Amino acid sequence: MADKPYPASKELYHRALQTIPTASQTFSKSAMMYVEGTAPLFAERGEGCYLWDADGNRFTDYVLGLLPVVLGYQDPDVDLAIKNQLARGITFSLATALEAELAEILVEIVPCAEKVRFGKNGTDATSAAIRLARAYTGRDRVAVCGYHGWQDWYIGSTARHLGVPKAVRELTSTFTYNDANSLAEVLAGRQGEFAAVILEPMTAELPKDGFLQAVKALTHEHGALLIFDEIITGFRMSLGGAQEAFGVTPDLATFGKAMGNGMPISAVVGRAEVMDLMADIFFSGTFGGETLSLAASIATIMKLMATNAISRIQGVGDQYMTAIKAQISDHGLNEYFQVVGQNWWPSLQPKENVRFDNNFTTSLLRQELVAQGLLYLNTFNLCLAHDDEEITRQTLQSTDRALARIAGALSSNRPEDSLMGPPIEPVFQVRQNPGSANKSNG
Ligand SMILES: Cc1ncc(COP(=O)(O)O)c(C=O)c1O
Repeated sequence: MADKPYPASKELYHRALQTIPTASQTFSKSAMMYVEGTAPLFAERGEGCYLWDADGNRFTDYVLGLLPVVLGYQDPDVDLAIKNQLARGITFSLATALEAELAEILVEIVPCAEKVRFGKNGTDATSAAIRLARAYTGRDRVAVCGYHGWQDWYIGSTARHLGVPKAVRELTSTFTYNDANSLAEVLAGRQGEFAAVILEPMTAELPKDGFLQAVKALTHEHGALLIFDEIITGFRMSLGGAQEAFGVTPDLATFGKAMGNGMPISAVVGRAEVMDLMADIFFSGTFGGETLSLAASIATIMKLMATNAISRIQGVGDQYMTAIKAQISDHGLNEYFQVVGQNWWPSLQPKENVRFDNNFTTSLLRQELVAQGLLYLNTFNLCLAHDDEEITRQTLQSTDRALARIAGALSSNRPEDSLMGPPIEPVFQVRQNPGSANKSNG
């Protein structure tokens, strides 16, 4: 069913495999994400919301580098800020004023932020926050909910824990989103031993009434610190993150992804009394103050504010959600597919059903959306450049065509023949979604 052969991608894949295990630096950008032969594997360039692959095919990109690109590829204002900084130098022997400038912006817009430190990856920020909480409380255990990066303290709690010492794994417990009792049980099981509770304040599911408040109360009752991992919600759900949107202020919070429109930058922010311990723990690296990313982040946040980007992106999300729900109905697919999430991060995904395995429907959906020119994993990752009537029209025409082909495949005698290769397998699943679609991470 997929129409494009992707010869240059295939050649690059085989070449890269000779020197790079999995031929990618990121699971979620690797060949593991797509049905073999039905999707591009290598990018050549990006502009606005478009990505060109190694074969010269243009896709409307709904992956956006796994969410960093919030304005669009090659945003002129962000690129100008990078170029201006490049003319002065990149990584210096001393701190620069840019660090204070960006820290002051975050203190202004993020409710819990009194002090700030920067990192490069989201994992830098979550791991620094956990070390800080352990130092502050003098305790070792952490409770986690969601995805928090590749370091031992978190990844040891998932099925992909190969290489993580058992002693480290034993210090991390998981609890269930929207189930405060599950957290209460975890904390009560080891009274006085938890340093931190870290969670994604929201993913596909909205927090139930009182859930975040209950998590905060329980965490503090047990003498632990509350950390919101806002690496996805930050600069997308609202400028000040989910903590601003839901009115629940944590002790610490972590940001990354969208804060630099694609440049590698992350931040841990929080209460001054806790953050001041940064002077005593060790969170210190060569590139923490790298200036191109700091300049890009300042320009990104300024542009998000100046263009009202967050609500414009959410307007696009609203249109997609309404239209795609209707398309699913029109094609008689209500039993198999659904639209979930919120307007800032909508998701068209399979529904648990008795006829088809989730990996099969996930694979078929991805194969057919890519065949229609939409680069898509599990969610519509949106950017300001998507806010364009023609792009919306073309995208919704593509989703309609993909769903029509899927409906045809599912009602045929041999639906399994419609998949051009073996179904994809999730790297692992950490988020509970309504309808429990696959979410792979990293
Ligand atoms: C909520 C959340 N926290 C942490 C991370 C880790 O960020 P990074 O991959 O930049 O280290 C991610 C990455 O997907 C994430 O989604």
